[in-house]
Amino acid sequence: MNEPPRKDYFKNKICFVTGANSGIGFALSEELLKRGATVYLAGRDPKKVSDAAEQLSVFEERVHPVLVDVTRQEQVQKVIEQTAAEEGWLDLLFNNAGILLMALFETATLEEWKTIVDTNLWSVIYGTHAAVPIMLRQGSGHIVNTSSVGGIIPYPMQALYNTTKFAVTGLTESLRFEYAEKGLHFSTVCPGPVATPIYAKRLGKPDPLMNVPGDAIPPGTAAPFILDRVAERKGMIIVPEGFHDRLWRSYVSGDPVAEEMLGAHAHNRRNALERGDPAAAAAAPMHR
Ligand SMILES: NC(=O)c1ccc[n+]([C@@H]2O[C@H](COP(=O)([O-])OP(=O)(O)OC[C@H]3O[C@@H](n4cnc5c(N)ncnc54)[C@H](OP(=O)(O)O)[C@@H]3O)[C@@H](O)[C@H]2O)c1
Repeated sequence: MNEPPRKDYFKNKICFVTGANSGIGFALSEELLKRGATVYLAGRDPKKVSDAAEQLSVFEERVHPVLVDVTRQEQVQKVIEQTAAEEGWLDLLFNNAGILLMALFETATLEEWKTIVDTNLWSVIYGTHAAVPIMLRQGSGHIVNTSSVGGIIPYPMQALYNTTKFAVTGLTESLRFEYAEKGLHFSTVCPGPVATPIYAKRLGKPDPLMNVPGDAIPPGTAAPFILDRVAERKGMIIVPEGFHDRLWRSYVSGDPVAEEMLGAHAHNRRNALERGDPAAAAAAPMHR
């Protein structure tokens, strides 16, 4: 279902981006604006959203700040319907907001489970549930859901996160085939490490870029790559290509090398978490 990239895929398009005040969502919004789209820039914190809109003010009336807590179905439904009503159209929805948690399964609380499932999975279901009827009426539309390489490879000590992201991958890939004949397109974005505040938030660090893995790419590098692939209507988008892409193929084929790497990673991460060092767990090697 891939198509040649279309240079004008985003020009004059109405796009709605969640988690747009920070990291990958901000970079996607900026790149969409550069490519001529109108962007509804959605976040939950009024100050962060208005600061982000201010940073993009060069794009003037094509930037629309929106407040929404993506864990609240009625809010998500309302802002997506309002956007389509205001513009008469909704071309692309990016369900991107999310949080990360690395923890030992036995110490994770049910409250943590609820928060991560609400934020990473229900939010995507709510957004998709609101947008699909609109896009079906239009006979066109593209929904881009941010999963993770943790949504295709079971990176250890991330069972809570991986559960939500595998579900996002499954949902998006299912709908890609179910709606292809109806003119609707779906893409699953699977980033590897990207240098955003998500890592510091997890560890409660004051510097927003602390504890970013050494091999992380800048969000400004990830966003153009992602949008080029979205414009090709690619289904699975792994960014950056390379290591995770190869490990994924190796893991699904049952390759003993992948089994050994994930086993070693689990061992090293468990040791670090058991001695109370989440930063070391995040950076733990994939060999014994
Ligand atoms: N960075 C990576 O290495 C990486 C790798 C794989 C996948 N991802 C995925 O990429 C997506 C974006 O993450 P990021 O790395 O760009 O992190 P980020 O900079 O922390 O951005 C996450 C965004 O989601 C928002 N958000 C969180 N909970 C929300 C809620 N309940 N309602 C509304 N907005 C909410 C955050 O708002 P606040 O600023 O108010 O917290 C922020 O705008 C996530 O789905 C993440 O799982 C990231």
